[in-house]
Amino acid sequence: MNKIRASIKGIHGYVPDYVLTNSELEKMVDTNDEWITSRTGIKERRILKGEGVGTSYMAVKAVQGLLEKTNTDPAEIEMVICCTSTPDLVFPATANIVATQVGAVNAFGYDIQAACSGFLYGLTTGSQFIESGRLKKILVIGGDKMSSIIDYKDRATCIIFGDGAGAALLEADEEGNGLMDFWLRSDGSGEPHLHMVAGGSRKPASHETVELKQHYVYQDGKTVYKFAVTNMAHAAAQIMERNNLSGDDITYLVPHQANKRIVDATAKAMGVEDAKVLMNIERYGNTTNGTIPLLLWDFEKQLKKGDNLILAAFGGGFTWGAAYLKWAY
Ligand code: COA
Repeated sequence: MNKIRASIKGIHGYVPDYVLTNSELEKMVDTNDEWITSRTGIKERRILKGEGVGTSYMAVKAVQGLLEKTNTDPAEIEMVICCTSTPDLVFPATANIVATQVGAVNAFGYDIQAACSGFLYGLTTGSQFIESGRLKKILVIGGDKMSSIIDYKDRATCIIFGDGAGAALLEADEEGNGLMDFWLRSDGSGEPHLHMVAGGSRKPASHETVELKQHYVYQDGKTVYKFAVTNMAHAAAQIMERNNLSGDDITYLVPHQANKRIVDATAKAMGVEDAKVLMNIERYGNTTNGTIPLLLWDFEKQLKKGDNLILAAFGGGFTWGAAYLKWAY
């Protein structure tokens, strides 16, 4: 009997309307377009404006578009995984909020918190339920409202991040396409280099934490950069080696959009030419859990059944990994 593979049968995304350009950032902090572009490749990012709207707002929009375009009845969805580092609330899970708002009344769900590697972790987690034959239709969402945890006076972080969400519909594939392999790792010793100090159980919110600006992302950019380049390339190499793939066999590299220089270095180490590297960081910045689904959504029309995709990511934790996916439609 053929192995059941989990495949992405539809992808959709949502980015807020407000565009925060490099020239607007020049008015907010001591920076300039040339510095930002040459260091990161980012030209603009989207920001979710308005009171009382969180990550679920964008996730719901992405899922509604996905259900509509795949002609899927929300009542058929059995599981909702929401990968996010900026949930609406500490609890309940944003997955539960989204599931109810889209009418997925027969689903259970939870959030996955693995920083920028979250969507990769969520995709592989959801796939196990499909491969086991236990579930038939699963939504995997990746999204973040990074603007809610960014200090727009800190030029080291505010230039990088943006808001957005994407969603994938996972189903079994009868034709041998779908998730072929994955390789994931994490290392908690990365915590000092990329984190948010307060707001969790170790240091709950207080007047002091607010005054000390401890509810914002802290990043030691240089350390994160070195770690990301080395480990994203290593993860991709593991996947390529054990599946006998060379750079020529890969149709597209689908990398987490952290920084153009990190992606270029990863592609070079893999022997993948520039034309095969999907990028949209110039328009959205780093949307954390949103980058990979938003990238697949942006390039959906270009993808063909049977294409060999390598997804690769890294993020706070540290977390990192790669997956080999044969596109299914
Ligand atoms: N505009 C202008 N100058 C800036 C700046 C900005 N936005 N941010 C920092 N600088 C300055 C620094 O203060 C420093 O000045 P100094 O030499 O006078 O001290 C100088 O630019 C160099 O800073 P440095 O931190 O060494 O820059 P860098 O070349 O390492 O680039 C990053 C900074 C953040 C772009 C880079 O480290 C990076 O991309 N890291 C990875 C970040 C990432 O991907 N995070 C997401 C993880 S999922």
